[in-house]
Amino acid sequence: MPYSTAFGDHFYCQTDGRLECGHVFLDGNGLPARWQEQATFLIGELGFGTALNFCETWRQWKLNRSAGAELHFMSFELYPMQAEEIDRALSRWPEIDSERKALVAMWPKDPKDTVELRLDEQTRLSVVCGPALEGVRNAAPGFDAWYLDGFAPSRNSDMWSPELLQLVHDRSAPGGTFATYAAAGFVRRSLQAAGFTVERRKGFAGKREMLCGVKGRITPRFR
Ligand SMILES: C[S@@+](CC[C@H](N)C(=O)[O-])C[C@H]1O[C@@H](n2cnc3c(N)ncnc32)[C@H](O)[C@@H]1O
Repeated sequence: MPYSTAFGDHFYCQTDGRLECGHVFLDGNGLPARWQEQATFLIGELGFGTALNFCETWRQWKLNRSAGAELHFMSFELYPMQAEEIDRALSRWPEIDSERKALVAMWPKDPKDTVELRLDEQTRLSVVCGPALEGVRNAAPGFDAWYLDGFAPSRNSDMWSPELLQLVHDRSAPGGTFATYAAAGFVRRSLQAAGFTVERRKGFAGKREMLCGVKGRITPRFR
């Protein structure tokens, strides 16, 4: 179970981070169903970490994608890991063995600037190294879904600042969505102030709540 001494937090829940990814980030963003509606789909992630979310998303994408459709997964990470660290963290999940091996084989020795990988003919990964605030500010708009996966808001305030969440909103496509395991009131209020309609849902494995939402002010009648 990877743990960050710098932030004093685990990289994912201790029950099963892969299943948590499915519940929080995929379900919370209406995936895989929304993949059927678009020929190209751009996911943004705050915090690439061990690449667990990426590998689980890629696995589900391969099972659900339509011929010719393209997924671009763009993640923002201040402290990119080494290939051996990613390999060690993910080897606990046999379900994503082939994704882990393919990613680790391509991962650069010294990840910096933007790591650009074409994983297969329908899947592209970009990892933008550096502070997320800067990376998202420089990113082109058009994100269809966001995974907000910084460390706990109380320990990693940069990843949940109103300024960054406003940029997340502004870089989202019309109808763009976000999901996060976090449920803190100040995070919810910043997301609402940024312009998202926010929904509280049941969290994963005993966590009372998580948040997800859609860009724009949507009245309950249309949801
Ligand atoms: C909870 S972990 C992400 C887990 C990851 N999604 C996974 O699948 O393994 C949070 C990540 O945010 C990164 N991080 C923390 N502060 C950051 C910042 N200001 N900008 C970019 N990344 C940051 C940490 O280095 C860490 O990798």
